[in-house]
Amino acid sequence: MSAQTVTRRLTQADLAKLYQAGEKLVMFTCYDASFARLLDGAGIDCLLIGDSLGNVIQGHDTTLPVTVADIAYHTAAVKRGSDRAFILADMPFGSYQESPEQAFRNAVALMAAGAQMVKLEGGAEMAATVRFLVSRGIPVCGHLGLTPQSVHVLGGYKVQGKGEAAAQRLKEDALALQEAGATMIVLEAIPAALAAEVTAALHLITIGIGAGKDCSGQVMVVHDAFDIPPGRKAKFVRNFMDGASSLHDAACRAAAAVRDGSYPGPEHTYAG
Ligand code: KIV
Repeated sequence: MSAQTVTRRLTQADLAKLYQAGEKLVMFTCYDASFARLLDGAGIDCLLIGDSLGNVIQGHDTTLPVTVADIAYHTAAVKRGSDRAFILADMPFGSYQESPEQAFRNAVALMAAGAQMVKLEGGAEMAATVRFLVSRGIPVCGHLGLTPQSVHVLGGYKVQGKGEAAAQRLKEDALALQEAGATMIVLEAIPAALAAEVTAALHLITIGIGAGKDCSGQVMVVHDAFDIPPGRKAKFVRNFMDGASSLHDAACRAAAAVRDGSYPGPEHTYAG
């Protein structure tokens, strides 16, 4: 199976097959129907309605003000604009940390809006919630490393998993999420060697952003990949508009670069 041969809506089982076949998965954030149509047309496998919409759409400094209603609204738009891409929706800050029941109620709202899976931040402390959701029919993607909803605890947007103790904690968190039934884990801003080690140790899909080339796939914030302001671009960002003739061309180049392993390069990665 090749990613391009599937023309209907991709399912979780399709993503697993692509992963098992050794194909790199390509994920973009997406917040509206127009970009969904464009990214779907470029063969992007998965569209993430990220809470980064707090930054790039709403103009906030952090993702913290984003609500479940915001994510549900944008998820429905992305769903309407796409036919093929798998739809992943972020659970915003405060919508799942209180209890598994709270997480379930809010995840239901996102699934009803069109999500096929929800993503939440955190490691072993979220395992019971992940298990609760998965056992009630809601697939879950974890998110480890730089978790932007914890920016005030982390003391800023900094590379995570540096040093032996932090790396060990992250590995344990990844295993806890896998054991709880998560299907995928986003690894954000961690040393490439650590992401490679975690990916090799797991049998689930890892999606990197600032985590090196050895993850099972890559996610890009659409505003970063297309060089749309505002915002300071992180080290792992590549401007795919460079040399592209259109947004469609840029999206195709980004997908090709992930699939052939040329993105991310060494210049986009962090050392331990
Ligand atoms: O909200 C978002 O865009 C994300 C990505 C950075 C993975 O969670």
